[in-house]
Amino acid sequence: MKIVIINGPNLNFLGTREPEIYGKQTLKEIERKIQQYAENQEVDCSFFQSNSEGELIDRIQQAHIDKVDGIVLNPAAYTHYSYAIHDAVKSVNVPTVEVHLSAIHSRESFRKDSVVAPACIGQISGFGATGYLLAIQALKEARNKGEN
Ligand code: DQA
Repeated sequence: MKIVIINGPNLNFLGTREPEIYGKQTLKEIERKIQQYAENQEVDCSFFQSNSEGELIDRIQQAHIDKVDGIVLNPAAYTHYSYAIHDAVKSVNVPTVEVHLSAIHSRESFRKDSVVAPACIGQISGFGATGYLLAIQALKEARNKGEN
């Protein structure tokens, strides 16, 4: 099973960025943890981060072209207003799980709404980096259900 982990703007600054909210781990450290988990689960994982909306959309489309089995997507602030990312997820035939490190529903009111989540099979928020692992698990289970 092939999965791509896509992270949006400012997540390249994890470790430095508001550690009391997002934790002390860098994105590289989180990606290493995901990689280890994925290997144990026999999942082939690739990673992408961008601060640009267009590059995130290109990577989502590429996942379709590459016939990837699932996308784990943290659209970061784009979550709350990017209809273009919503449309990109809708355009591709790849099940997508939205992930947030922080508990977006218990923060500022502008973070409670996700315009991307309605295009996804589910959303995980508030469990830090563990959320990415839970998303991989969810994609695996969704795939197995589809095959039964
Ligand atoms: C975030 C939550 C967003 O509201 C915020 O803009 C981010 C990170 C998270 O992972 O908790 O950049 O997606």
